[in-house]
Amino acid sequence: MKRIGFVIAIAGLFWMTPTPSHAAPSAGQALAQHVCSACHGPDGNSATSAFPKLAGQGAGYLEKELHDFQSGKRVNAIMQAMAASLTPSEIRSVAHYFAHETMSPGYANPKLVALGQKIFRGGLPKAGVPACMACHGPDGMGNEPARYPRLAGQWSAYLDRQLQDFAQGRRKNSPHGMMNYVASRLTPAQMKAVASYLEGLH
Ligand code: HEC
Ligand code: HEC
Repeated sequence: MKRIGFVIAIAGLFWMTPTPSHAAPSAGQALAQHVCSACHGPDGNSATSAFPKLAGQGAGYLEKELHDFQSGKRVNAIMQAMAASLTPSEIRSVAHYFAHETMSPGYANPKLVALGQKIFRGGLPKAGVPACMACHGPDGMGNEPARYPRLAGQWSAYLDRQLQDFAQGRRKNSPHGMMNYVASRLTPAQMKAVASYLEGLH
């Protein structure tokens, strides 16, 4: 009996501890910290570029991607397995949890900044590449209502991989194939430069 009382007291302590920076729904927070944290970090800042940062990403975009993994519109063995059993309300909740965290800053290779910035701000008109900022925002923070993702601060190796996947048709879940169109017009060196620039953007 004493033991049960102790457990209840401890549970009460956790219950009453206010969430420090935001009021995350508890289901999403629990999921994030017990499941997603293994790869994406407890606050959504992953330790390596093998896993994208989710902290500070748009909630609507995160939700869309989780539904796309679930339906198979976006293909990735690990994430399809992770998303398979999530309910719509868990998806909403975990997306909101990560969206309210703060993305850690990244780093740009100074040698790639000039080309990367040029592509991001002005595109490559001759090659038919539109300016990335037209959709991803002047500061690379994305467009939440349109569900265009934030790119600023994301691991450059992850961004580069996604651009290659879009270019080669391995990723096909952007609306109307818009990213397939954009990425297929970039050379590998241009992808690397814009990805590096974006990681350093803040
Ligand atoms: C075992 C490692 C692992 C775990 C655990 C994991 N993920 Fe992932 N996640 C990945 C990998 C790898 C990718 C990149 C997939 C790709 O390249 O398309 C990813 C990508 C994502 C993306 C897409 C991000 C973007 O910028 O497009 C979202 C959203 C996501 N994960 C959410 C979650 C959530 C929510 C959980 C917990 C329920 C979770 N992940 C658990 C490995 C993991
Ligand atoms: C016409 C609008 C548009 C333009 C222009 C555009 N993007 Fe995108 N981009 C999108 C949308 C929409 C998505 C989200 C796709 C989805 O729903 O999964 C996206 C996704 C991405 C992703 C994947 C992010 C992640 O977290 O997985 C990368 C990387 C990216 N864009 C880079 C670029 C770069 C670099 C440029 C400029 C050369 C660019 N985009 C121009 C609309 C655009």
